[in-house]
Amino acid sequence: MKALILAGGAGTRLRPITHTRAKQLVPVANKPILFYGLEAIADAAIKEVGIIIGETGSEVRQAVGDGSAWGVSVTYIPQEAPLVLAHCVLIAGEFLRDDDFVMYLGDNLLEQNLREFVDGFEADRRSSSTSTPGPEGVAGPTAQILLAQVPDPHMFGVAELDPDGRVVRLFEKPADPPSDLALVGVYLFDARIHEAVRAISPSGRGELEITDAIQWLIDSGYRVRSEILEGWWIDTGKLTPLLEANRLILETLDRCIEGEVDGGSQLDGRVVIEPGAVIERSRVRGPAIIGAGTKVTDSYIGPFSAVGRRCVIERSEIEHSVILDDSRVLGAGRIEDSLLGDHVEVTRSDRRPRATRLMLGDHSHVDLA
Ligand code: DAU
Repeated sequence: MKALILAGGAGTRLRPITHTRAKQLVPVANKPILFYGLEAIADAAIKEVGIIIGETGSEVRQAVGDGSAWGVSVTYIPQEAPLVLAHCVLIAGEFLRDDDFVMYLGDNLLEQNLREFVDGFEADRRSSSTSTPGPEGVAGPTAQILLAQVPDPHMFGVAELDPDGRVVRLFEKPADPPSDLALVGVYLFDARIHEAVRAISPSGRGELEITDAIQWLIDSGYRVRSEILEGWWIDTGKLTPLLEANRLILETLDRCIEGEVDGGSQLDGRVVIEPGAVIERSRVRGPAIIGAGTKVTDSYIGPFSAVGRRCVIERSEIEHSVILDDSRVLGAGRIEDSLLGDHVEVTRSDRRPRATRLMLGDHSHVDLA
């Protein structure tokens, strides 16, 4: 079993943050989103990982390296331009060969263990009497999708199941969704997907939706297995889901205080203070994380906040927000539901307390007067 992680694409929905970084490298609880996927893949005992990279490829290569930090071996597969997901399978043919593989969208974050997802597929295969469709017995699955009930299915790929739970049709972002079951960004395929991708590619539409390729498998008589997601799942490509992902991951952290906290400060609940961070005359209410080398003075850091490395927070209140590295928030009043990039500086010249919601790209400089 191999893994193919899709870490190309444009990241338009997280601009301005993604003007200067890959959307898969935006940190959640101070760790890049992509690393959670790599951890899940390593935990499922998958050793060979292909990563599709686009124009932010050098940044992804720098962050992930050869994969040895996760005990996997990484092959980078450059994609000239983000087209659609099936194009990624097409260009990864040489890496994937005829092996089964998990395809993992690099901006997805899910609670469910990948190992169970893989085991479910393999167990079904073992219990099926044949691997090809036909009269001779029950065919094993050739692909597996993961589905989640969502309130806004028109934003996703959507599956229609028959009364026995079999996948009968898939639609990509349909205007009129036939169900509320969205495709989560984790798929499992055997080598027949290559045939499917090639079969749909010459079509007049010029589009290679992965949902069309899976539909081709179903229409050709192959069995596509589906599982309903357990736990939460977030497609982090937008601000609100990104803050939500931050909240969910912070809730799983254990308290760990490695930095310096003075006698005038108070830490409540699940708080992580990384080495070299300094907390002075401040209150931090967990779940929250303060990155290495950050200094917090005369401030309040509220629940569900992740402050990056080497930041300076003075005379300010921060809640339910993500602040990336090297930023400064000085006498800024209350910042909530916000995402601040690297090297951002936020100040306020007047003294009236107010709450502000911000989405600021790297190197922004804002005076809230
Ligand atoms: O998140 C789940 C959804 O992901 C599914 O429900 C949809 O069926 C599926 O098409 C996909 O929709 P998105 O609109 O969220 O896909 P997005 O363009 O955000 O791409 C997903 C990941 O794949 C992202 O990390 C970027 C990467 N990518 C995307 C394209 C189109 C590439 O590496 N290359 C590409 O050409």
